Order: sequence, then structure tokens, then C-alpha cells
Amino acid sequence: MTGTPAAAKTSDHDPIGHLSPTMLEGHVAFITGGGSGINLGIARAFARCGAAIAICGRTEERLAGAAEELRGMGAKVTYKAADVRDPEALQASVDHAVSELGDISITVAGAAGNFFAKAEEMSANAFRTVVDIDLMGAYHAARATFPSLQKTRGSILFISASQAFKATKYQAHVGAAKAGIEMLMKDLAVEWGGHGIRSNSLVPGPVEGTEGMARLAGPTGDDLWKRAVPLGRYAQTEEIGAMAAVLSGPLGAYVTGSQYTVDGGLGLVGSGHISDAVEKALFSEG
Ligand code: COA
Repeated sequence: MTGTPAAAKTSDHDPIGHLSPTMLEGHVAFITGGGSGINLGIARAFARCGAAIAICGRTEERLAGAAEELRGMGAKVTYKAADVRDPEALQASVDHAVSELGDISITVAGAAGNFFAKAEEMSANAFRTVVDIDLMGAYHAARATFPSLQKTRGSILFISASQAFKATKYQAHVGAAKAGIEMLMKDLAVEWGGHGIRSNSLVPGPVEGTEGMARLAGPTGDDLWKRAVPLGRYAQTEEIGAMAAVLSGPLGAYVTGSQYTVDGGLGLVGSGHISDAVEKALFSEG
């Protein structure tokens, strides 16, 4: 066969339409950070697959908007605002979800915070804030949903990032937090495997229209990032969501302790030119 392959159809970038609408029937998902971005994309994929969904985040209005959208897809949805840094508030959000929807069978620890900062200049509180949201928040979500997951023999999916593995300038706080998440994921896979609980992580690349990418590409522009991705484009949130649905449901039944990269190949290329552009935009004198 000769010639170039046909360009991917647009629908290939919106894969949740290809998922089975009954794949997650009977499942209850609890998603931190589920009011927007990648985590809302995951919620959409779960809704498409028939799961009931509880979303948790800091902003009530954002959760209300996301819940309305997910209900429009036919899903049973509930929410209660909580900051993942506050274990009591998070527990209350989980308890609310269980009372409304039943025991949780899928936890997605997705809430995250990010900004570029020089390691020697950011305050201890700045470093701690990201570790608190990303790593401690993920632990709090896992711990608060454990009793449910034990009953349902459920699964946890941690939303990680390439900074966990790839040294990146101005991201020391994020790298430390995400590397911690990766080890937490593996430790829980081993420790909670006996309860039938699976634990995995998903490493998204740059995703279109998310606050995360607005923050990361803000100083440098999108083109630099798009050129860096071997597939040459950002992901759609649904492309991350589809993989999350596969890992969290019956198709992933024997998958635990694993890390899945859905990044268009970005993790394979160096971060140097992006760091240089960030340095020029944010930290160079004059
Ligand atoms: N550079 C250096 N330090 C920064 C910073 C930046 N760009 N942004 C915040 N900080 C510091 C603050 O100065 C503060 O430290 P201080 O008390 O010593 O001054 C500390 O971080 C906490 O900031 P604050 O704004 O009080 O925290 P918050 O809880 O309101 O917000 C953040 C948390 C900072 C992570 C905020 O960016 C956020 O809410 N992010 C969520 C959304 C997000 O990042 N999404 C993308 C995920 S990939």
C-alpha cells in the first residue's frame, strides 16, 4: 500500500462515543477536581458508560454547572464542595456521595494545583501548597473512600503527571508531589490488593481547554507545546476520560499498580526547550 494514511477522523479524538453505555452500570464514581478540566472529561466518560457520579471540588458553582451537564447525559449525579487538603471536609463529601448514590466503586484522585516557580525563590508554603493539594489530597481521597472500595472491591485512579518521572525546571514542587503519588499508587496496589482494590495512575499530556494548560502554556503560548508533542496536538479531555473508564471498569479488572501515559508522546521528549521558553518569559531580567 502506498501514500500517506488518511488523517484521523474527528470522532477518533472524541472516543467516549465508542465506549459501551453499560460498561460502568452499577458503579459509583467519586472524582476529586471533577468540576472542570481533565477530571470533568473523566466524569463525562464515566457518565457515558452508565456510572453514577459524585464530583468534589472547592467551588460550589463550578460543581453545580458540571453536575447539570452530566445529568444532561443521563447520569445520576451528586456533589458536595470540599477542599482536598481538608480531610474532614473531604470525608463529608464522600459520606454525602455514599448516602445519595451508594458505596463508591471508583475513586479518581484528580485535584491538582500548579504554577511555575524557581525552587530557590518560592516560599515553603508555596511548595507545601502543591504537595498538600496533589499528594495529601490524593491520600485523603484514597483513605476516605477506602471503606466503600473495600465493600465494592473497587478501584482508585490517581491523576499523575510527567513531572513525576521527567526532571523539569520550575516544577520542583509538582515533581515532588507527583512522584509521591506514583509511589502511593504502587504501595496501595500492594497493600489493598488483598481487599480486591486496584490502584493505578494515569499520566495525561497537555489537554485542550484546561486550567492546567492555561497555567503552563500561559507564559509561552500553545504552539511551543503543540510542536513538542510527537502527535502534534493537545488531547481532548474525553481522550483522557476514555482511558480512565477502561482502567477503572471491568476491562481493567486485572490491572493494578500500573501507570498509564496518555500524552501524545510528550513524555518521550526533553523538557529543556519548554523550560528555556518559560525562563525567558517569566524569569529573565529586563
Ligand atoms: N509563584 C510562586 N509562589 C506562588 C505562586 C506562583 N505563581 N502562586 C502561589 N504561590 C504561593 C503563594 O504566594 C502562597 O505562599 P505564601 O503564603 O508564602 O505567600 C502559596 O503559594 C499558596 O498560595 P495561595 O494562593 O494562598 O493558595 P491557594 O490555596 O489559594 O491556591 C494554588 C492554590 C496556588 C495551587 C492555586 O494556583 C490554585 O488554586 N490552583 C488550582 C488550579 C490549578 O492549579 N489547576 C491546574 C492543575 S495542573
